[in-house]
Amino acid sequence: MKILFVCLGNICRSPMAEGVMKNIVLKNNLDWKIESAGTESYHVGENPDRRAIKSCSNNGIDISKQVARKITVNDFSDFDIVYSLAEEVNNEIETFLKSNNSTGEFKFLLDEVYPGESKSVPDPYYGNEKDFAIAFELIETACETILKKFTSADSKFL
Ligand code: 4NP
Repeated sequence: MKILFVCLGNICRSPMAEGVMKNIVLKNNLDWKIESAGTESYHVGENPDRRAIKSCSNNGIDISKQVARKITVNDFSDFDIVYSLAEEVNNEIETFLKSNNSTGEFKFLLDEVYPGESKSVPDPYYGNEKDFAIAFELIETACETILKKFTSADSKFL
């Protein structure tokens, strides 16, 4: 199973998702490829936001060594699933694909928990520690749901 999480800056939401999912994968002895990327280039090459690092370390997960990168056209064929963390990210992905004369599939991460509701993980960048904790909780629930979904007997990825 190859999963890519995408947000805007790749320094807050998607790095937390990468960290949480990798932790779950490790605990369950799975051979899955997990990465994250952003639609914007502002923070490329940077480690995650210190508040995202803190939120994860509060939960025993180290994301401090992650490095932000931008999405590529190849990501949409290299990964089985591309999860968008939010509505504004969907719009940016569409624009990215169009400007590269390319196509690709992606879906809302939170649709795994709330099917068809198109819910977003709220952008915590301009918020405080509590906003990061809220984002972490939503992401953790979604990642646990992903584990159940793709390790269940009827999963086409087994
Ligand atoms: P992320 O959060 O998309 O969850 O990484 C953001 C990080 C940076 C910015 C916006 C959102 N920014 O505008 O620089």
